[in-house]
Amino acid sequence: METENSMTLEVEIERILPGGVGLAHADGKTIFVALAAPGDRLRVTIDRVQGNLSFASIKEIVTPSPVRVEPPCPYFGRCGGCDFQQMTYEAQLVAKAEIIRDCLRRIAHLENPPEIAVHASPKEWRYRARATWQVDKEQESVGYYERASRRVCDVADCAVLVPVLQTTLEQVRATRRDALLDGLEHIDVVVGDDGVSLAPEFADFRTSEVSLKVFDEVYSYNAEAFFQINQDLLAPLIATALPNVTGETALDLYCGVGLFTLPLARRFSRVLGIEANPVASRFARRNLQQAQLENAKIITSTVTEWLRANVRRLDSVDFVLLDPPRAGAESVVIKSILDLHPKRISYVSCDPATLARDLKKLLAGGYDIDLIAAFDMFPQTHHVETVVHLSSEVPSS
Ligand SMILES: C[S@@+](CC[C@H](N)C(=O)[O-])C[C@H]1O[C@@H](n2cnc3c(N)ncnc32)[C@H](O)[C@@H]1O
Repeated sequence: METENSMTLEVEIERILPGGVGLAHADGKTIFVALAAPGDRLRVTIDRVQGNLSFASIKEIVTPSPVRVEPPCPYFGRCGGCDFQQMTYEAQLVAKAEIIRDCLRRIAHLENPPEIAVHASPKEWRYRARATWQVDKEQESVGYYERASRRVCDVADCAVLVPVLQTTLEQVRATRRDALLDGLEHIDVVVGDDGVSLAPEFADFRTSEVSLKVFDEVYSYNAEAFFQINQDLLAPLIATALPNVTGETALDLYCGVGLFTLPLARRFSRVLGIEANPVASRFARRNLQQAQLENAKIITSTVTEWLRANVRRLDSVDFVLLDPPRAGAESVVIKSILDLHPKRISYVSCDPATLARDLKKLLAGGYDIDLIAAFDMFPQTHHVETVVHLSSEVPSS
């Protein structure tokens, strides 16, 4: 590796790491390079040093990787939204599988994690059916946070938004500035089969209720509740998260508006869904009611509080589905699941690092991994959705 001066180095990118950065080594240092492609030969500038780790940005592409492509978005590099546009779609999928395997090896201490096929998104662009747009009053900008910053990148055209949300973005941006900038910090938007919901309400925009049909289930929700971003992958995600499981009792932890609760209620005699957001839990109850599923109950509570109060009162639980936010499940949640000792667990995760942290505890508690599948819910970004099936043959003590 050639050192030009203390701040600039020439490096080769070995692979993509969790967090989406490229890994390189030079002068005994480990270097993380933003927006790199595996196989790139780059001149990089060191921006920050933390112990033996250096964080760098690309100064010049000396020899582009065979998988490098020209990022089509004019905001690429500035906008914090998409950090994989510099790679072919095929290379993005390979990098995501490698990210999951890296976390399983380093964090869960799985010596030989299986090969993981990442289900491709049917749409590489214009797939995003939910978004949060930031509003900056001083700059009068509307868009996404810039990379590693709280400054708002003013985005007029976002290439990953579904067309109807792109139109909404244009309508929002065309709204009277005083209405748009009055007290709004961010705007949540989500799409259904029947329109767009936006929160908070302002000018002529309403937090209307929308609905979406997936398989034979209909889900209603609005922009105040969580809903999955990539609706084209929902059917395979549900089919994988809920394989041929049946039984007496199932728990759906972090259940949102009931995406998995409805199909679970068709397979188990009794289902309990736990969700902290009261708007989401209200929709989950309504969705069950409209599907005439009376064997499922939704509790508005944090999973931690509910498990603390109820773990000893629950008889036997056959199946637990958990789909926590990016932070993963709290330690007490994993401990309670081990105490409940369900025969099977399905863990749906949007962060491979916290997934691996939680898997390590479940494996130590006697569970084995039966399957790992991944879904590219977020093309053009390093994010990836993972589903893991676990089972335990050890009888509970
Ligand atoms: C990744 S989403 C999954 C939702 C649902 N399973 C789905 O696929 O639509 C996580 C959900 O957990 C909820 N949540 C976040 N923290 C929570 C907590 N501590 N306890 C219960 N629910 C929580 C969020 O409101 C959100 O609905």
